[in-house]
Amino acid sequence: MLDKIKELIGEVNTFSATSLDEIETFRIKFLGSKGILKELFAEFKNVPNDQKKEFGQTINTLKQAAEEKVTTLKEEVLENSVEEKGVYGDLSRPSEPIELGSRHPISIVKNQIIEVFNRIGFTVSEGPEIEDDWHNFTALNLPEYHPARDMQDTFFIEKNPDTLLRTHTSSVQVRYMENNEPPIRTISPGRVFRNEDISARAHCIFHQVEGLYIDTDVSFADLKQTLLYFTKEMFGKSKIRLRPSYFPFTEPSAEVDIYWGLETETDYRITKGTGWLEIMGCGMVDPNVLKNANIDPTKYSGYAFGMGIERIAMLLYQIPDIRMFYENDVRFLEQFKSVL
Ligand code: DAH
Repeated sequence: MLDKIKELIGEVNTFSATSLDEIETFRIKFLGSKGILKELFAEFKNVPNDQKKEFGQTINTLKQAAEEKVTTLKEEVLENSVEEKGVYGDLSRPSEPIELGSRHPISIVKNQIIEVFNRIGFTVSEGPEIEDDWHNFTALNLPEYHPARDMQDTFFIEKNPDTLLRTHTSSVQVRYMENNEPPIRTISPGRVFRNEDISARAHCIFHQVEGLYIDTDVSFADLKQTLLYFTKEMFGKSKIRLRPSYFPFTEPSAEVDIYWGLETETDYRITKGTGWLEIMGCGMVDPNVLKNANIDPTKYSGYAFGMGIERIAMLLYQIPDIRMFYENDVRFLEQFKSVL
């Protein structure tokens, strides 16, 4: 009996094959559910006790040899046949299409804004989301106890009240001025945080783009012209108005409205029947802010503006609810596939 098994081991070791069919026949013969090994294992109970050990070991050797043979032969055959006969079929055939993801609408709009301002010489700058009081408030002409601090409900970091989540990207203005000499032309896109209840129109996390332009003899007319250019490029609209407003960091300050028109029912709805839409805040950088950032206000002047990206994306793509940006529902996101 043992000799028979040893013979079989010899057979296994010398076996070779050139096709998967041959290997399969071999596998069934030795390892199949009615194969040689099955029989041998069944035989095991009839083997006298003193021979059981050797018998068992030999069958196992046979089993291992057969299994290894099948694996190595399969690998060899597959490798050869890919080259020669194309087991995988026609390799020039178009494959299953791979689904591409889409850019998030916030990224799309952010990139569009950057592109428009890049064309007129603005660079892109960024600052930290975790800010200190100086850059988010004090340097922007919002000293402690200034009532305008309440305009933006702030998330403070509990253990250190000097540290907070920035409430606007205006903080990057200050950082940029501290580290760069005029002329300055920069826009700063980024995420901002406010301690607000979430609703269809407000979210505690959203995105802004801040703009800053500092040079000699910069006037309000320069600001208006830049904004007009932006609205034309971004929205294809060529009428804007600047409504007097208040921001601590600019003087004078204004709110920018664009004339959206009253052609469709949607136009009526989104402009509340006025045809006008507010899209950003702006103004001439307050001399105090320049001073705080070590820029001489007697020599330089400049303008700044800030806008919310969600707001603009909602306008451009008719998105009714700000929460949709953060749900990451593929059915929403995949609608932006065609936009780059
Ligand atoms: N920081 C303001 C906000 O979050 C937006 C803003 C208004 C930025 C006027 C400016 C500006 O630079 O001049 O509401």
